[in-house]
Amino acid sequence: MHIRRPKEQANGNGKQYTLRKATTVDARGIIDCMQSVMEEKKFLIGEFYMYTERGEQERIRNPDDLTLVVDYAGLIVGVLALQRGMHRKNRHTANLGIAIRAGHRHLGLGTRLIEEAKIEAMKRGIEKINLDVFSTNTVAIETYEKLGFRKEGARVGQFFFDGKYVDDILMTFYTSDIPSDLA
Ligand SMILES: CC(C)(COP(=O)(O)OP(=O)(O)OC[C@H]1O[C@@H](n2cnc3c(N)ncnc32)[C@H](O)[C@@H]1OP(=O)(O)O)[C@@H](O)C(=O)NCCC(=O)NCCS
Repeated sequence: MHIRRPKEQANGNGKQYTLRKATTVDARGIIDCMQSVMEEKKFLIGEFYMYTERGEQERIRNPDDLTLVVDYAGLIVGVLALQRGMHRKNRHTANLGIAIRAGHRHLGLGTRLIEEAKIEAMKRGIEKINLDVFSTNTVAIETYEKLGFRKEGARVGQFFFDGKYVDDILMTFYTSDIPSDLA
């Protein structure tokens, strides 16, 4: 899989998108970014971000978690969190969550975040990256499929919103599928 580099990319008005690992200083910006996507109510299960600023800082410090952000002139516009299984039985797996703020989508940022996370997961010995996505979120499903994720199953009717039942689609990427020249 070709990784689009460099990690910085300018947009039309000269501002730059910078992809980097989060630090505890980013906690507030991450919460604001997640909250703004949650308020759209159609992509993420939660409607309120569950961590306080302090809780978010703890999460960022956790060596088993990887948090990547896209910084746009000081505003966090993208967040990817990879949370490794905390038990011996599932330490070879991690769960991935991602959100790009409205107004910054379809610029390749989500793709770049996921590509970075896949490489980092492989370096950490994670074999299987899992995620789940609403069956209505076709843009996300297409993005994941393009990046090598495969549907593994579905929890039918797992959610109910906007007047209808929505399935929970389970998707997986195996880090052994990363080409050796990128490893
Ligand atoms: C899903 C999401 C992470 C994708 O990130 P993104 O930065 O918008 O996506 P990218 O620009 O990297 O595009 C990835 C692919 O999506 C597809 N895509 C982009 N825009 C699209 C559109 N309007 N319609 C259909 N497909 C589209 C393309 O196949 C694109 O691949 P390509 O441009 O390399 O050919 C982002 O849109 C997002 O955060 N959405 C809201 C929150 C969300 O849904 N989170 C995931 C919950 S499981």
